[in-house]
Amino acid sequence: MKFFVDTAEIDAIAELNDLGMVDGVTTNPSLILKSGRDILEVTKEICDLVDGPVSAEVVATKADDMIAEGRKLAEIADNITVKLPLTWDGLKACKVLSGEGKMVNVTLCFSANQALIAAKAGATFISPFIGRLDDINIDGMDLIADIRTIYDNYGFETQILAASIRTVNHVLESARIGADVMTAPPEVIKKLAMHPLTDKGLETFLADWAKTGQKIL
Ligand code: G3P
Repeated sequence: MKFFVDTAEIDAIAELNDLGMVDGVTTNPSLILKSGRDILEVTKEICDLVDGPVSAEVVATKADDMIAEGRKLAEIADNITVKLPLTWDGLKACKVLSGEGKMVNVTLCFSANQALIAAKAGATFISPFIGRLDDINIDGMDLIADIRTIYDNYGFETQILAASIRTVNHVLESARIGADVMTAPPEVIKKLAMHPLTDKGLETFLADWAKTGQKIL
């Protein structure tokens, strides 16, 4: 499973990247707002730091304008993935931009039919939003499973990018189902390493070690 980081915070990306945990980055207008940075500048910095795909989202709503914005964003670096909303205009822009050889991430996907039609339009990635479905009492994991089944049934190459991940269980379930990629905030990725029994066990080992009176260095 590839790990993308869902943030525009350079320091957080750099920390995880140094550990080899960053296969890509996803941003969106809300994350750009949170960063307080200029979209073109911060996206360029992220692209310089990370080898893998970096999603940058258009904000136009008409296909022609989306295409123009997508082309401008794609000029930032070779690893830019143009992020487009799953609207009819977004699908038109997806077809054109993917036809030009650009990577496209179709976002705001909330149904398996939306994922099916995005694959038909040539999406490189489809971003189903798990947490936001959970927020309205719909199990987001069912959507990931449905898309996996449909894509496998027909051999679609569009990669499932599990998004709006809020918990470590979202990561676990996405991995079990076979999502190709997951994107999560840095704090969720860090929580993957945590277990109370690890902390408790370490505490015991260190207490026993102190009693030996020995030193390694
Ligand atoms: O990848 C999409 C993500 O940024 C949305 O997450 O938590 O705002 O639903 P959230």
